[in-house]
Amino acid sequence: MATDGNLDVVVICGSLRKGSYNAALARTLPRLAPKTLKLRAAPPFDRIPHYNFDIQHADGFPAEVTAFADAIRAADGVIIVSPEYNWTIPGALKNAIDWVSRMKDQPFKDKPVALQSCAGGVLGGARMQYHMRQSLTSIDAIMFGRPEILVTFAAKKFDEKTLELTDQPTIDIVIQQLAAFDAFIRRVRD
Ligand SMILES: Cc1cc2nc3c(=O)[nH]c(=O)nc-3n(C[C@H](O)[C@H](O)[C@H](O)COP(=O)(O)O)c2cc1C
Repeated sequence: MATDGNLDVVVICGSLRKGSYNAALARTLPRLAPKTLKLRAAPPFDRIPHYNFDIQHADGFPAEVTAFADAIRAADGVIIVSPEYNWTIPGALKNAIDWVSRMKDQPFKDKPVALQSCAGGVLGGARMQYHMRQSLTSIDAIMFGRPEILVTFAAKKFDEKTLELTDQPTIDIVIQQLAAFDAFIRRVRD
């Protein structure tokens, strides 16, 4: 955790594909964040095996799970930028959350978490966000409320070639959310 007045925030992207709009949004965040919010990408979670208590019992937590958990535990806050798959949380990300939820020093406990999503359709990933709120509340995360970031019709909001976020209203609301999340983390912590 940062001790210099800045806040150390880890950003988790729920999409694994190269051309991901959610990954593109995650890459944009450092440019839009207040100077006091230091953002860094979470360690990869795509090679974590499917959760199985037998693996945990026999071998302990896989190294990727430990690295993912350590990054969350060490951070002042977490931002999850994720698509919605079949009306809910993408499986790989849910699997990573299920693994870390079994740890004794559970990394999401009392952790401020903000959500963002990009989707191809009109709901912008809203159902993923509500399921994520429910899931993370069950493991004692402290969920940030508003403003919400739901990027609808994502293909229209990013440059087709460079994947740069070009939609000004989206840029404006992301700036507002990041500033509000900075204040939220300090309020929760103090
Ligand atoms: C397996 C799968 C399920 C999807 N389900 C939904 C869905 O429930 N709601 C939605 O808005 N979009 C859904 N989509 C479309 C995604 O919004 C779209 O592919 C988006 O670009 C994925 O995010 P990404 O660009 O960050 O990879 C789905 C896509 C995939 C591959």
